[in-house]
Amino acid sequence: MTPLSRGMKLVVASHNPGKVWEINQLIQPYGLDAVSAGELGLSEPEETEMTFEGNARLKAIAAAKGSGLPALADDSGLEVACLDGAPGIYSARWAGPGKDFGLAMKKVAEDVAGHNGWSGDGPRANFISVLCLAWPDGDAKVFEGKVFGHLVWPPRGGNGFGYDPMFVPEGDVRTFGEMEPAEKYAISHRTRAFAAFKAAMLDGIAPTGSGASVKVGRDLAAFEAAAASLSTRVEAAAFVSRLKDDLIAHRADWKNVTLETYLEALERQLARSDGSEEPAWRQLAKAMLAASAHD
Ligand code: IMP
Repeated sequence: MTPLSRGMKLVVASHNPGKVWEINQLIQPYGLDAVSAGELGLSEPEETEMTFEGNARLKAIAAAKGSGLPALADDSGLEVACLDGAPGIYSARWAGPGKDFGLAMKKVAEDVAGHNGWSGDGPRANFISVLCLAWPDGDAKVFEGKVFGHLVWPPRGGNGFGYDPMFVPEGDVRTFGEMEPAEKYAISHRTRAFAAFKAAMLDGIAPTGSGASVKVGRDLAAFEAAAASLSTRVEAAAFVSRLKDDLIAHRADWKNVTLETYLEALERQLARSDGSEEPAWRQLAKAMLAASAHD
């Protein structure tokens, strides 16, 4: 397999903005020039395999062949012990076409209740991430990471994405949704899979500091990823609160620094709404964010 090197373009084979942002955080310090499959206009292949590894391979090879560049794909999900590993490879699909993880988390909670799983310390669960690096000639390598913990109900916290607000990692009492992004990355399944990827593929490349710490000023990409993953009103409220803190911390990076001009821009943005099927609070968060950014 050809080694990766600084300055090389690497396709992040995902259309999930939360995951693209997280993978970017991990590979940027190694000087890899990340471009997402969405930005390249590559279509999202159907996940037809029955394992995380099979689906990661399928996505990475499709993106590498479609772009002529090396591609990194992640297939990940939540496995709940008392549900025999469900939702597993169907984790994204449990959120339905509207990608509503409020609904998906509720389904997990109800299924756990159906198995009497809420007694004791909460049902055992783990996140799993399988990374696959593929080359345009079809050569591919996979790397796996897991984080174990338990579930809570109702969900807590507005950070992260997907099932984060109902997952408490071992050794902590907070959900991933209640942790700062950097705290989650320190222990996440994706970070652990990436550690295996790094040891095998990036060994010869010196990092230039962590992706989380090199960011200066406003991190619009992080906000975009969060807005695209919102699932509940509680998350939307936390998002608005973070947006307010961001205005105070990075006023110069905002287009509208007074409430009046901001509200006018928000109104224009909402009027442009295309009537998408996304939950209303996710549409609202995206509109608020768009209204705050320079054109
Ligand atoms: P896929 O890998 O794109 O098939 O989707 C994996 C799904 O698993 C995501 O859409 C989330 O629902 C869930 N998932 C994977 N990683 C995480 C995580 O770090 N936090 C919360 N949910 C996750």
